[in-house]
Amino acid sequence: MSNVVCVGAQWGDEGKGKVVDRLAPHADLVVRFQGGPNAGHTLVVDGRTTILHLIPSGILSPGTLNVIGPGVVVDPGVLLEELAGLRESGVAVARERLRISDRAHVILPMHRALDLARERASGRRIGTTGRGIGPVYESRVSRTGVRICDLLEPDHLRDRLGAALYERSFLLEKLYGEPAPDVDALLAQCVEWGEKLAPYVDDVGVLIDRALRDDRSVLFEGAQGTLLDLDHGTYPFVTSSTTLAGGACAGAGIGPTRIDHVLGITKAYTTRVGSGPFPTEDDGPGGRHLGTVGAEFGATTGRKRRCGWLDLVVLRHAVRVNGITGLALLKLDVLTGLDEVRVCVGYRVAGKEIHEFPASAHVLEACEPIYESHPGWSEAIDGVRRVEDLPVAARAYVEMIEQALEVPAHVIGVGPERDATIERAHPFGR
Ligand code: GDP
Ligand code: IMO
Ligand code: MG
Repeated sequence: MSNVVCVGAQWGDEGKGKVVDRLAPHADLVVRFQGGPNAGHTLVVDGRTTILHLIPSGILSPGTLNVIGPGVVVDPGVLLEELAGLRESGVAVARERLRISDRAHVILPMHRALDLARERASGRRIGTTGRGIGPVYESRVSRTGVRICDLLEPDHLRDRLGAALYERSFLLEKLYGEPAPDVDALLAQCVEWGEKLAPYVDDVGVLIDRALRDDRSVLFEGAQGTLLDLDHGTYPFVTSSTTLAGGACAGAGIGPTRIDHVLGITKAYTTRVGSGPFPTEDDGPGGRHLGTVGAEFGATTGRKRRCGWLDLVVLRHAVRVNGITGLALLKLDVLTGLDEVRVCVGYRVAGKEIHEFPASAHVLEACEPIYESHPGWSEAIDGVRRVEDLPVAARAYVEMIEQALEVPAHVIGVGPERDATIERAHPFGR
């Protein structure tokens, strides 16, 4: 039995939902450890598409218990909607299938209002998802947040809301000209959320620890991606949580000694939603091919994703900061039909060649990618299930990536469906 962390190796939307859904039958627990409803994880099973924002991607695998960990920020309205959507599609989620950490922080309507107001007012927008993510993580750090356990204590809730609103009402009203929240209405809303979510609330750290002691397998599901990490991403154009594999420890409440494998998930090319530097972005025919064939529109906001070539500087950085032991290389099928596939092997900036990812967004903006060109292929590969059956050029492309990163590709994605997957090695063993 082993414990595996799945993380995005790029700017998010790498296909984490598909990989976690595919691996979930091998795990007893699937645990989300950070982020919130800014995530949009797509699962396609037997032609039916399910998009998850807060519920872990093991939910369509009946044997798994899905856990929303303490590091996740929960918007109860979004979560209840997601539960209702699943129920409508025939997946009734009972307590046996889902637990929510009593320590997770709650996204209040004012967090969303602040997120949107800032984006409207700011001269240099981050292009957030508008889900209140930055403001709620700020509340957490400033120790004025409201947690899931608070929703279950109506007698103390008014005090917690008072602390939460104290400075933020002022900001909303006086700085941004938005209405301040009505405390009584908010209190009633929170009590109602508490009643509805109570059946799922648990001390999930104890639950995860019991699974680990019983030698059961746990799959930790990351959201966003390495380049959106608060410390190691393209700051300030990042999200507000630790998206790295190390974040699974604090975000789920386990020690680092418990993690056996880190699966780094990457597309066979690169995309980004929102603002910020993106050295291999391609506005020409190549980028248009990737956007069109890859259907690159955001699963949460519907925004068009920016598209470009695979960037090995990004991926080497991701391998290092996450300790990636295996790769999942998704959307290889999207490259079919290109005469030439470009790959960035370094950057040129201020007359120098660099191979490490720079800290400064300004330096990164100035970086010119150094490309290698690889031959494309024209054969459809969505029906391929063994790497030996891939066209020669596609196989060579996979091998080139493995050699450059010194990490094996365990999983290769050849279509959106759960089964459109080449599985070469299994992080859980067999
Ligand atoms: P996540 O946020 O990392 O879970 O990724 P998203 O769900 O936001 O975006 C990935 C998109 O690519 C979704 O529409 C998936 O259905 C789709 N997808 C995942 N893997 C593959 C693949 O191997 N090939 C193709 N063509 N699509 C894929
Ligand atoms: P998944 O889990 C892609 C991006 C936003 C914005 C920045 C900050 O589906 O891969 P935030 O709302 O978090 O404050 O926005 O991060 N972003 C994502 N991009 N996939 C995601 O999640 C993202 N979550 C946030 O577009 O640039
Ligand atoms: Mg996504």
